[in-house]
Amino acid sequence: MIRSRIIGFERALPPVTVTNDDLAKMVETSDEWISSRTGIRKRHLVSDQNTSDLCIIAAEKLLEKAGWDSLSVDLIILGTVSPDYTTPSTACLVQNALGCKNAFCFDIAAACSGFIYSLSVADKFIKNGGVKRAIVLGGETLSKITDWSDRSTCVLFGDGAGGVLLEAAEEGGILYEDIHSDGSKAMALTAGYRANKSPFYKAEPKNDEFIDMNGREVFTFATRKVPESIKKVLEESKTSMDDIKYVVLHQANTRINEVIARKLKAPHEKFYTNIDRIGNTSGASVPIALAEMNEEGLLHKGDKILISGFGGGLTWATMLIEL
Ligand code: COA
Repeated sequence: MIRSRIIGFERALPPVTVTNDDLAKMVETSDEWISSRTGIRKRHLVSDQNTSDLCIIAAEKLLEKAGWDSLSVDLIILGTVSPDYTTPSTACLVQNALGCKNAFCFDIAAACSGFIYSLSVADKFIKNGGVKRAIVLGGETLSKITDWSDRSTCVLFGDGAGGVLLEAAEEGGILYEDIHSDGSKAMALTAGYRANKSPFYKAEPKNDEFIDMNGREVFTFATRKVPESIKKVLEESKTSMDDIKYVVLHQANTRINEVIARKLKAPHEKFYTNIDRIGNTSGASVPIALAEMNEEGLLHKGDKILISGFGGGLTWATMLIEL
């Protein structure tokens, strides 16, 4: 059976870091409120970069370190809810910058599960035999869909990008997955509403450009669905938590991740966290975490890791990977 093996991990963070104290100069908040409720102490925000710029940096590093010729890439998939444009896809912008002329490219909008959804789709193309090499990215400039006067959301999010290379292989790679959506709860987390601009539209246009979230509902959803999803992946793949080296959850909130760890009765040390430094970067959070773990020397060939994303849609997705 063909498998999709992960070859490299890279990330790109914008140079500007913004601390909780910096935000306290913009809205009525405090380092104490933000860090105790979310675990976040600072985040990176773009000044003049867009989502494609961050993704291009991560993808260039991936190709360079793996020694892949850009013409050998068959597919680029990019998970984002903050693309540069509706069309072209951000993946096509990355393709052009890298000269991956033989690749077909598209974006996936599954919010904080977007990178894992993208990996899943790339995995299917590889398993079907049509694709041998793929670049899978998650990138966001959430700062452009954040209302910087709304203290309940602006303290949570950051910008960044990360990604991996996938290659057809005989063993290892993506072993098992569990993927879901629940559109009945779609309004719990919304951003980027496209107003009706038809000349025949009579009502007052709705302006819902910015991230709007029912924080409690999202908290309850994540702490219920993610442990269920992880347990299902472990059971169905006949893997025990003892066999798992690390669990890499979407970095939304330290308290969410602590509840998930408790429900799974798994040791805290298995759960990688960088939310204190990065904030919530939606579809970029899991690949950024993987790249940082790799830089820290935590990832080794043969390790089994679980990755899990959850967020807007509502969507959630868990994947078991052998490195
Ligand atoms: N600084 C200071 N006070 C703030 C604040 C801030 N940045 N944001 C909100 N508050 C205030 C509110 O105005 C409210 O004040 P009030 O009681 O006088 O009305 C109070 O804090 C409590 O607000 P609430 O929204 O109920 O806080 P909470 O305890 O639910 O915590 C979250 C808010 C967002 C931290 C929490 O709901 C959460 O973690 N949700 C999950 C969200 C998430 O991670 N989403 C991303 C998933 S992809």
